Formats: sequence, structure tokens, C-alpha cells
Amino acid sequence: MCGIIGYVGEENAVPIIVEGLKKLEYRGYDSAGVAVCGQNGFFDVIKQKGRLTALEARLSENPIAGNMGIGHTRWATHGEPSDTNSHPHVGSQNKIAVVHNGIIENYRQLKERLEQKGIAFASQTDSEVIAQLAEYYYSGDLLDTVIKVANALEGSYALGIMCLDEPDMLVAVKKDNPLIIGVSGHGQFIASDVPAVLKHTNKVCYLNDKEIAVLTKGGARFFNMDREPLSKTPETVTWDIDSAEKGGFEHFMLKEIMEQPKVLRDTIQSVHSGGNKEVIESLEAARFDKLVITACGSAYNAGVVAKYVFERLCRLSVEVELASEFRYKDAIISDKTLVILVSQSGETADTIAAMREAKAKGAFTLGIVNVVGSTIAKEAEVCLFTAAGPEIAVATTKVFSAQLVLLYILAVRFAAALGKMTEEAERGLSAEIAALPGKAEEILSRIDSIQKYASTCIGYKSIFFIGRNIDYAIALEGSLKLKEISYIHSEAYAGGELKHGPISLVEEEDTLVVALSNCGRLRGKIMSNVEQVVSRGAKVLLIGSCQDAGQSGIISYIGLPEVPELFSPSLSVIVMQLFSYYVAANKGLDIDKPRNLAKSVTVE
Ligand code: AGP
Ligand code: GLU
Repeated sequence: MCGIIGYVGEENAVPIIVEGLKKLEYRGYDSAGVAVCGQNGFFDVIKQKGRLTALEARLSENPIAGNMGIGHTRWATHGEPSDTNSHPHVGSQNKIAVVHNGIIENYRQLKERLEQKGIAFASQTDSEVIAQLAEYYYSGDLLDTVIKVANALEGSYALGIMCLDEPDMLVAVKKDNPLIIGVSGHGQFIASDVPAVLKHTNKVCYLNDKEIAVLTKGGARFFNMDREPLSKTPETVTWDIDSAEKGGFEHFMLKEIMEQPKVLRDTIQSVHSGGNKEVIESLEAARFDKLVITACGSAYNAGVVAKYVFERLCRLSVEVELASEFRYKDAIISDKTLVILVSQSGETADTIAAMREAKAKGAFTLGIVNVVGSTIAKEAEVCLFTAAGPEIAVATTKVFSAQLVLLYILAVRFAAALGKMTEEAERGLSAEIAALPGKAEEILSRIDSIQKYASTCIGYKSIFFIGRNIDYAIALEGSLKLKEISYIHSEAYAGGELKHGPISLVEEEDTLVVALSNCGRLRGKIMSNVEQVVSRGAKVLLIGSCQDAGQSGIISYIGLPEVPELFSPSLSVIVMQLFSYYVAANKGLDIDKPRNLAKSVTVE
């Protein structure tokens, strides 16, 4: 997963790189490093296991400087997190330095070949082979060398490469992992993601697979693998620098939760003009006899919610598949299938593979993506963008909410186009969607009581989330949110399933059950499930619209503003996000960077 950044220009690269790495730390944080072409004609390299703060401490003890440098924040795939395995990697001749995001699948073969030629490796990573191979091929022309190296590599990579013999030239190339090029008045950048360069520029070029960027102080040039020049005009990014700052909040996650009313408003507004409007209008619902939503993690959970909405409103068969499963299952799809890829980053390896599989089978692909210029945004036939701005916390909140409303809007449009809904009903549901930002604000104004309740919950061994129908769908997201940031064991179950097994896990005093109740028709059913767990000693938090709840101290209750059942996930999820956040905060955990996770999962 890893974040990479590079700079060549008039300024000292080191603080620029460290600042940029802070914006990329969400991508991986088990170690970090920086290398510059130092003033003494050597590489100055500082690498450090642990968080970026550990690297900063090392840098303040051993300051380094230079006008060109590369940096890396790692999520290890090959080789344990250690100082040696951290990037940048420098070849044994000390001539070429490399940062790498991705996995080199044929690194063993390449390494063996190089070792037979007497080249000694220092690390256990797959990435070091890139630096060693580049030195082996190098004969005075870095661009040529990078082409040769890229042709020899199998797997995925985004690379930043420097050579001491050409100390004013930074070269980048990518395949299956993201890389953007930033151009500014004082120098040029490479980075895994836009927020890393926003402080310096909002002008970026997006690299496609097997395209090479050659950056110097004076500008950026682009080439294909045949060394033919490519022309690219920088695009202006609309994200502003503040959106990538904490802005006084203790964590990005809390800031992003609080931004949700605006994000909902902007996303709802986005379908009335520009690209999102065009895409929605271009989709002919009648052309499809089946809809497949495929994604990973929270984006998958958004798909599960959408299944209930589409099926109810459109009477259209919907399958929701984990992208990691879909890609290998030989899915039954045709040119009459609409495959929706939901992804914040647009770079999740499994979701990209699912998209390519769907396209190969002739399905029509629609991306729902947050990052403009990402692989899914580029490769899906059409793409809707969530207007959420950059999301930094590893646990998604605001983008999930934006995905939900785009899916609701799409479902309502499809239902109307398919004649399953009158114009009046369409207007009514659209008005309900438009009212969601205000209702989100109302929930956020009650943050103190959720915080207070959450502070009493840090001792539970297990927290279960239950619901029926659409409440079950959103319970999946509540449970994921809680476990990823609080490390409390948690599962989500359809209420009716409890008695088929999971109820055996309910233990007196140690178990909290969060029950969702927004499905009017099924209220009695979920309340029976609540009774079943209460009688076995569980404590219960009930979320929904049930004024008669809270019969005893055992059942705590958080009421939601009135909302149609199908859109209620947008409100219950905010309560669950806040609940998870404050449980984790009360445990003193590193909320924005939970252990073992990285935001953008660009490896399989
Ligand atoms: C969300 O909180 C998770 N960190 C994770 O499940 C995420 O939703 C998943 O990795 C998918 O990422 P994407 O939206 O960028 O494709
Ligand atoms: N494979 C490289 C390593 O383990 C990079 C990992 C990544 O980009 O996720 O260092």
C-alpha cells in the first residue's frame, strides 16, 4: 500500500517530503524513509522503523538537505518492518535510489539472477531488486534504464527513481498503483495521492500504466515505453489544502464525521450539473436485466444497503459481491448486466480486478469513486464522483455516506425510468434525500450524549450489531467501523439469525448488542430479538425510531429524526460512527491509523 513522494526543484526537498509523507501516512505506517541527492555527491538516506514521528526525530538529529529527494511511508508486504527493509532502497553501487509502492511478483527470479552476478542484497524486500536491477542496467541514461527495468518487472508498482550520475532528474513510472505528478513554480513532484502536494500546487497530471515521467527543476516530460514523448496538460484539482488538514479536530476521523452534512449536500447537488448529471442521464435503466455491485470493506457495505433500496424501488435483481470473490468466481454476467464498482480510492486492487473481469465479460461498468484520476475512474465506462474531498482517516465515514446517497439517487432514477414509481413518488423520495443533510446535522448536534454513552462501553469483550433488512445492511458497517478502530471484537447479524448460533456468544455483563430498528414492519421482530439477548444478560443499545423503547436501564436508546426506512442507514450510520469513534477515543487508541490497516489496499 505505501505512500511515495518525490521532489526536484529550487527548495530543500527534505521538509517538503516529510510534510508530504504526513499526508500519505494513511497508506501505511510501519516505517518511513527519505533519500536526497546530497551536496557531497552521495545519497543521504535516513530510514526508520515506526511512525513518521520516529523518522522526524532521526532527521532532527541528523539533518540532511538537497534539491532532489524521494520519500516513502511503508505498509510491509515482503520483509518485516525494520530500518533495513524501509524504503528508499539504494543499489549496492550506491548509484540509484528507489521508492516503491506495490509488489514485484517475479522478484525472486530477478534477485537470484542478480545474486549469481555477485550483487549482494541488503534487505528482504521485493523492492530492493528494482534498485539493484536499475544499477545493473544503467549505462549513462536513466530514462533508458527505467524502461528496461519496467519491462523486466512483473506485478504492480509506482516508482520514484534517482540516479547520482544525473542528479537533477527524478524519474517515475507506474503500473497498477497510483502516481500523480504535481507541477509548481518552484519544482515538480511525484506522489501517491493529491493531498501530499496540495500545499504547493493544485496542478497535477495523472500517469497511466507504463507511462514514464521525467521531472527536472524546470518542468515535467512524459514518455511511453518506446521512449516516444507524450503530451499531458496539467489538470486543476478542486480539493483545497484545508480539506487535508485536521482543522482543530483531534482526529481526521472526527473532522470527517462532522463534515458529513456538507458532503451529503454537495453530493446531492452534484447530480444536478456537470459530469455526475451527464452520467446519471446517460444510464438507460431498461437496458439492464441485472445489477451487480462489487467492492471491498465499507464500500461493499454501501452496496449491501443499495441492494435493499434497488430491489425495493426498482424490482430489479441485484447481487452484491465482495470484489475479492467476484474476480475469481466466473460470475454470470452479460452485456445486459450493470456492474457498479464502489470505491473511495478508485485504486483497490480487488475492485480494479473485478472491474476488468466484468468488462472482459461484456458487462457495462459504472464506478462510484472519490478520487478523480484514479484507475477505476479512468477505466470504468462511466463514473460518478462522491463530492467528499480527500478522506484521510483510514476508517471511512464521509465517503461512505456520499456513496449511499449516490446509490439512493440512482435507485430512484432507475425506478422512475422503469415505470416502477410515479412522478409524484419520485419527487417525494428526492425531497427525502434532499432532507438528509439537515437530519445529519440534527444527529451531530447530539454528539455529547453519544460520547457520554460510548465512554461507558470500553469494557465490553464483544459488541454485536443486529438489524433486519436494511437495518441489517447498515449494521455491517457499524460493526466494521467499531472493530477497525476500537479493536473490540464485533460481528453484525441479521436479527433473525441470532438464535441459529451467535446467541451462544452472549455473555452476561460482557456483551453489548446494538440493535437497529428503522423498519416499521419488522419492529416487533427486532424487539423480540432484543428481549432474547436481554434475557441472557446482554446490555442493549437501541438506535432508530421507537419512542417506546428504553423500558429499563438495560436498554439504552438513541432516537433518529424521522426518515423513510430505505434512507435510514444514512442516519443510523452517523450514530454508529460517533459511537465507534468515542469508544476508541476513550481507549486512547490511534484512531486515524488503526493497527495493521492501511486506507488504500492496492495489493491483493
Ligand atoms: C473502511 O473503513 C475500510 N478502511 C476499508 O474497508 C475500505 O472501505 C476498503 O478497503 C475499500 O476501499 P476503497 O473504498 O478505497 O475501495
Ligand atoms: N512490497 C514493498 C514492501 O514490502 C512495498 C509494499 C507496498 O507498496 O504495499 O516494501
